[in-house]
Amino acid sequence: MEIILIFPGQRTIKRPTNKERTAIMKGNTKVIERLNARLADELTAINQYMVHSEMCANWGYAKLHAVIEKRAINEMKHAEKLIGRILFLEGRPVVSILNKISIGAKVEDQHARDWQAENDAVKAYNDDIRFAAESGDNGTRDMLTDILKDEEDHINWIEEQLDQIAQLGVQNYLVEQMH
Ligand SMILES: [Fe+2]
Ligand SMILES: [Fe+2]
Repeated sequence: MEIILIFPGQRTIKRPTNKERTAIMKGNTKVIERLNARLADELTAINQYMVHSEMCANWGYAKLHAVIEKRAINEMKHAEKLIGRILFLEGRPVVSILNKISIGAKVEDQHARDWQAENDAVKAYNDDIRFAAESGDNGTRDMLTDILKDEEDHINWIEEQLDQIAQLGVQNYLVEQMH
């Protein structure tokens, strides 16, 4: 038996039923679908960057190895955030789907392929941020905006590398990546 204390002038407030709670927490199915699509992108990026980072280590480009490895870990944090949000919205995170992984045989080709992945990510996050806001899910919108900022940093770094390769020539650029 539940004891409810009532103070003078205070109205009792009914506790939400399980059904009401579910209705509040349950995310828009379309939002959850989009979060799962971004999760597949992130899991794909983790694998692509892990392979690129290890290829760079194998060639002795320690500097590139370190930066790209850090980026792979950052994508893992994004995947974690997406999984957390999907669960919060009472959806089911799908971690078994990977998109096509795009591996470059040379450093400049790796940067170009990673640029494509980041560019696709920036577009997709922008679309999903708009969709979440239109669906009235501002918590999801804010989380996606945080991830988007990281993706913009990633693309910015890659563009710097592509500029340096264009200006210095690939051999001079690579000399700088060894230590
Ligand atoms: Fe990401
Ligand atoms: Fe990224």
